Amino acid sequence: VWLRDHGTLLLIFLYLLTILGITFFLQLQSQSPHQGQRIPSPSDPQQLSPTDQGIWTVNSAGRLGNQMGEYATLYALAKINGYQAYILPEMHQQLAPFFRITLPVLSSDVVQNIPWKDYELHDWMSEEYRHIEGKYVRLTGYPCSWTFYHHLRQEILQEFSFHDQVKEEANRYLAGLRGQHQNVTYVGIHVRRGDYVQVMPQVWKGVVADKAYLEKAMGYFRAKYQEPIFVVTSNGMEWCRENIDASRGDVYFSGDGKESSPGRDFALLAHCNHTIMTIGTFGIWAGYLAGGETVYLANYTLPDSPFLKIFKPEAAFLPEWIGINADLSALLSGISG
Ligand SMILES: *[C@@H]1O[C@H](CO)[C@@H](O)[C@H](O)[C@H]1NC(C)=O
Ligand SMILES: *[C@@H]1O[C@H](CO)[C@@H](O)[C@H](O)[C@H]1NC(C)=O
Ligand SMILES: *[C@@H]1O[C@H](CO)[C@@H](O)[C@H](O)[C@H]1NC(C)=O
Repeated sequence: VWLRDHGTLLLIFLYLLTILGITFFLQLQSQSPHQGQRIPSPSDPQQLSPTDQGIWTVNSAGRLGNQMGEYATLYALAKINGYQAYILPEMHQQLAPFFRITLPVLSSDVVQNIPWKDYELHDWMSEEYRHIEGKYVRLTGYPCSWTFYHHLRQEILQEFSFHDQVKEEANRYLAGLRGQHQNVTYVGIHVRRGDYVQVMPQVWKGVVADKAYLEKAMGYFRAKYQEPIFVVTSNGMEWCRENIDASRGDVYFSGDGKESSPGRDFALLAHCNHTIMTIGTFGIWAGYLAGGETVYLANYTLPDSPFLKIFKPEAAFLPEWIGINADLSALLSGISG
């Protein structure tokens, strides 16, 4: 009987239409590329439209710190130039286990079928990088400079926010170190050793951090904070145990003093309040994410080092970070002797 009423019929019709509309909208949403989703090859006509508007990517080179620098640089440069950024599957594999990154991932067959234009970057922002031409650009190099992406700091920090599980593990570990202390300040220390111990003097006329540097850096924080707790991470833990004075009871070696997994160490450093770094992009990113005070080793090469042609200290370290000059005397005596 009520169906004879035209007004009610119209209402039912509008109601059904709304439901249809919402369903359609939800389907569209689930199709848009998001974290971890791969876009099929361009031969798939339904997916041609995103690729048709260009695809920018970056090489996936080096380990965690390098990968983060490449990701952030791609994020910023694609945005400035008005293109959609996509990452390679290899980069996704390295970063996605830790971070909630959002850039869509290319599938390997798409990567192979695209006529890439490689664009080599140096490690600081330049005016020409605002006007890079090409629909299918692959940025190359090892960019890791705040000068590319610091204006997007909040977005970059969001991209590198940790998965809950990683975050919880780091916080649990740090909470376990405080013991009975009420008012602790966590200082993450990253000591880059490994291949750099040879590469710095032999290739770059430089040094790695020594015992005196770490003493000075820790002294800075001991003087400033009531109850500092130092958390040491390194790919040369044995050296750290022998050279970092832990007799005051405020030094802890991550992973019981053995080399731990880089992702786990990185999460620990990023959850500390402040950072002592030595050299390398891993430490730079730890300081950037921790967001407190960062102490770094400064002037660690001779002035005529070829390193300074590819590395600009002022583009690597934020102006407010605190540099402590390296002791180059061993290098100088090694050369004269
Ligand atoms: C906690 O320590 C900081 C410095 O480490 C100090 O400025 C602050 O007053 C301390 N707070 C309390 C409640 O002791
Ligand atoms: C220091 O770091 C700890 C662990 O991440 C955090 O809980 C605390 O809020 C931080 N303190 C300050 C003053 O930011
Ligand atoms: C590094 O050397 C430069 C040039 O001599 C100097 O201006 C700068 O202050 C030094 N850095 C630090 C942290 O002392």
